[in-house]
Amino acid sequence: MNFELSEEQTLLQNMARDFATREVLPKAAEIDQKHRHPEELVVRMAELGLMGVAVPEQWGGSGMDNVSYVLAMEEISRACASTGVIMSVNNSLVCDPLLRFGTDEQRREFLVPLASGQKLGCFALSEPEAGSDAAAQRTVAIPDGDSWVINGTKNWITNGLVADVMILFAMSNKEQGNRGISAFIVPMDSPGVRCGQADDKLGIRGSKSSQVFLDDAKLPPSALLGEVGQGFKVAMSTLDGGRIGIAAQALGIARACLEDSLDYALQRKTFGRAIAQHQAIQWKLADMATEIDAARLLTLRAAAYKDTGQPYGKQAAMAKLYASDVANRAAREAIQIFGGNGYVTEFPVERHFRDAKITEIYEGTSEIQRLVISGHLIKEHS
Ligand code: CAA
Repeated sequence: MNFELSEEQTLLQNMARDFATREVLPKAAEIDQKHRHPEELVVRMAELGLMGVAVPEQWGGSGMDNVSYVLAMEEISRACASTGVIMSVNNSLVCDPLLRFGTDEQRREFLVPLASGQKLGCFALSEPEAGSDAAAQRTVAIPDGDSWVINGTKNWITNGLVADVMILFAMSNKEQGNRGISAFIVPMDSPGVRCGQADDKLGIRGSKSSQVFLDDAKLPPSALLGEVGQGFKVAMSTLDGGRIGIAAQALGIARACLEDSLDYALQRKTFGRAIAQHQAIQWKLADMATEIDAARLLTLRAAAYKDTGQPYGKQAAMAKLYASDVANRAAREAIQIFGGNGYVTEFPVERHFRDAKITEIYEGTSEIQRLVISGHLIKEHS
């Protein structure tokens, strides 16, 4: 077993850390306070090749691997979790299914601009009544000659309001349950596609999410991604990869908690000495660091399995389950270390606390990750 990163991976990690520290971190509080989509940072991430890290260069990406993607996601999310999720959705939930299921023509038209960051994507699976139960799709795709007519409502669509292209899931044959779901590529400026108001969220406030309404949206036959009825598998296998990205985002938030706590504990004094000299604080720091390392190993393992063509759904679910738990625990402990200063917006840890929570919810709640993991365990044991 080799724990060394390659030279290329180390270069990307250093580049992402440098960019995150110099350009993202100084803006993170303002992005959060103003609920601002950080357009200028998305442009910079595109210039740095971060919007399609694991997409081959031929298709507009950086031609690196998923381990590199995880390393970069951790760095960006350590600085700003909102910026992290914008990057994650474009990489994992939009470019990845286009690469795996798209025709060459679809890749040329959509993947090249998305992976190079000239365009931004979103992923529309969730609905008002299809969250954890993703197969309960009510959005319908009715064949109309060769074309499709789509009607329905999608919920909590990250990037929706600022995206150019949407990967959309809809029921094309109600009789067939999850085997009746199909996937489509939809330009957001298509007639009949409209976003609602931006969601007013607890955390990741710089990430714009909203409802997306489809009213008789007419799509050409070329909009179909994969085969008719294959959409649920497109969605589920895409989420396997997405969960690695969210695990890396959680890791970044947890590391922010640890590093901010270390800075604070070394300068804040109580009872005549820095609080870092008190054992109660030392134990918290030690636990945070240990758990972050364990979460990082799980996340890198899932990415390495994906890179080497091994099944990685269970590993991705474990990484997301554990890393999101670690992020929330680290954020709670960071606030405790900061005391009163942890409870006010002048210091960053209350933002980490609010940002951490979503990692236990989106791309499958922690309860869903446990279902996925136990499903694999039972299948492996039978
Ligand atoms: N890859 C490929 N195929 C898969 C799969 C996977 N990972 N998981 C399941 N399938 C296939 C199964 O093999 C099965 O196929 P057959 O019908 O041919 O046998 C089919 O899909 C149905 O599988 P299940 O019976 O396991 O499906 P289910 O209805 O019980 O649901 C679930 C399973 C795991 C609960 C699923 O609904 C799920 O993951 N729910 C969570 C949804 C989710 O993560 N949503 C995130 C929204 S996107 C988002 O959050 C983005 C954002 O904002 C940043």
